[in-house]
Amino acid sequence: MNAKKNILVVVGTRPEAIKMAPVILLLKQQSWANVRVLATAQHRHMLDQVLMFFAINPDIDLNIMRPNQSLTSLTARLLLELDDVLLAEKPDVVLAQGDTTTVMTVALACFYHRISFGHVEAGLRTWDMQNPFPEEANRVIAGRLARWHFAPTESSRQNLLREGMSDSDIVVTGNTVIDALLMTASKELELGIALDDTKRLVLVTAHRRENFGEPFRNICHALRTLAECNADIQILYPVHPNPNVKDMAHEILGAFDNIILCEPLDYAPFIAAMKKAYLIISDSGGVQEEAPALGKPVLVLRDETERPEAVKMGVVKLVGSNYEHIVKEAQLLLDNESAYQAMARGVSPYGDGKGAERIVKVLQDHFS
Ligand code: UD1
Ligand code: UDP
Repeated sequence: MNAKKNILVVVGTRPEAIKMAPVILLLKQQSWANVRVLATAQHRHMLDQVLMFFAINPDIDLNIMRPNQSLTSLTARLLLELDDVLLAEKPDVVLAQGDTTTVMTVALACFYHRISFGHVEAGLRTWDMQNPFPEEANRVIAGRLARWHFAPTESSRQNLLREGMSDSDIVVTGNTVIDALLMTASKELELGIALDDTKRLVLVTAHRRENFGEPFRNICHALRTLAECNADIQILYPVHPNPNVKDMAHEILGAFDNIILCEPLDYAPFIAAMKKAYLIISDSGGVQEEAPALGKPVLVLRDETERPEAVKMGVVKLVGSNYEHIVKEAQLLLDNESAYQAMARGVSPYGDGKGAERIVKVLQDHFS
């Protein structure tokens, strides 16, 4: 290999930073790579929490987040800023992960600048543009423009083939979320919140845009009913700072002894909470991937998922946003030991902890 190759890694939100951290850290060990990290800061505090945990200091920070930002203004501002960054940095390769507005705009800006874009966590699909919104569109666009598709699973590879992507541009790597989880879960983890150890812990997260409004109201009422009907549980809910979520969560769930609403947890305390949890109720993508590896059942507050593997294995169940359905399925797991045990098997369909290694090897082979 001749001169060092310039690799620009872009992160915008919390899950992107978690899933790209193992890739960034490994790339930084490569003698052939000059690695630069761009934080769009589509998220601010939640992104900074993760970057600090993994000791990653962004070389460039666009500080793009605005309170209650709209998708169009976020997209427009990102594209303009990325234009300047790509002109100044002249990267040989740009990497970004997932299906956020950051990823979609990075892929598009790379296309305009004719720079190779590597899409990490490629090929996840529900085949429904409205669910999840806007993520399905974001990942379809990013995938269409990518030079490399780093697909986490065989089924995501199949999705890309179905869309006409070339097999030679797809590599099944496993999801780097498991790399990050293994790097973290082996450490001494402190939750940092006093819990009642006599009660079973139900951990909750929710933030999906398609659930805003009535669906999220139903979800909160279901959680409230579960807390009221089960004196032996406590619900821990780190509330997403999006005002569409935060305001309603506090209005409906704010006044119960066995519901703890807190700020988003740092990554390590959140892993500690997952390890302590009896049951997880969430609409998060990353949590659907992590929890099965920790042997924790997840009820997913969505009607569809782009992560069918754990659903097929029976350790994750879709419950949507219907009040009765959420209460019924959660109550079943709280009351019925055999139903619970059937879902509490430790399986890891999303990765083996070597995702970053496989991604870095593809780039190394390409340049050598
Ligand atoms: C975004 C992604 C979603 C991803 C999620 C991970 C898009 C369109 N959405 O959703 O795909 O699953 O991140 O969490 O890309 N906020 C803060 N502080 C923060 C972060 C957010 O105050 O650190 C508030 C701000 O008011 C911000 C709002 O949350 O405007 C929404 O943030 P945004 O990134 O647009 O959407 P998310 O719902 O976080
Ligand atoms: N997470 C965290 N603190 C929290 C909630 C979640 O660190 O309070 C982590 C979690 O371990 C997972 C990721 O954030 O890796 C998921 O992010 P989020 O649910 O915001 O986004 P999604 O995965 O749905 O895109």
